[in-house]
Amino acid sequence: MSDAYLKAIATRRTNYAITNKSSVSDEKLQAIIKECVLHSPSSFNTQSGRAVIITGAENAKLWNLCSEAMLKGVEPGSRTMLEGRLKGFGGGYGTVLFFEDQAVIDGISGKMLIFAKQFPTWSTNSTGMLQAAVWTALALEGLGASLQHNGAYSDELVAEIHKTFSLPTTWTSTAMMPFGDPVAPPTEKAFGPIEERVKFIKG
Ligand SMILES: Cc1cc2nc3c(=O)[nH]c(=O)nc-3n(C[C@H](O)[C@H](O)[C@H](O)COP(=O)(O)O)c2cc1C
Repeated sequence: MSDAYLKAIATRRTNYAITNKSSVSDEKLQAIIKECVLHSPSSFNTQSGRAVIITGAENAKLWNLCSEAMLKGVEPGSRTMLEGRLKGFGGGYGTVLFFEDQAVIDGISGKMLIFAKQFPTWSTNSTGMLQAAVWTALALEGLGASLQHNGAYSDELVAEIHKTFSLPTTWTSTAMMPFGDPVAPPTEKAFGPIEERVKFIKG
């Protein structure tokens, strides 16, 4: 029963080699992301996860903002590499931006004081689950994608992104997933011994 699911999670890979095309329609992309947001779990079902899909010229605008902020003051040695990476993300078809609504986290933390300290951790767990769900779904559709964190680079960049795309200020950026039709398969991935990572304790 789990074979299809296990095959799906193995299909999800980091792929930076993306184009500005998408073989998946905008309607389908929206439907996929909505399903992932709907069904990804959150602590006490707070439903704190948020996602924004940005495509085309707006995607280029997003990554231009990131480039402007991140390339400032970077020494020439690192600049070329970073510039190339950011250009690649901006040259994709789109980006899924992930957020956690801090207003929701603060609300539940104020109500359930016994868990107040845990809610931020559970919030990051929750957004990770959502990101994995979206990443896997995009891979199953044949799209290339990677996971980036530039959206939280600096307070100035955060403010600029929120202003440019009219996002609520309580939405805290947790990740950015640039995607597009791939031009090459993902690179080879190395795995350490699984026996050292998983234990089975028989009762
Ligand atoms: C929590 C987390 C943060 C990551 N951050 C980045 C990142 O900032 N930039 C990036 O290129 N890849 C990032 N990655 C991708 C990992 O480098 C990648 O998943 C890992 O090397 C395994 O390769 P795979 O995705 O092809 O399985 C991140 C992955 C995770 C789970």
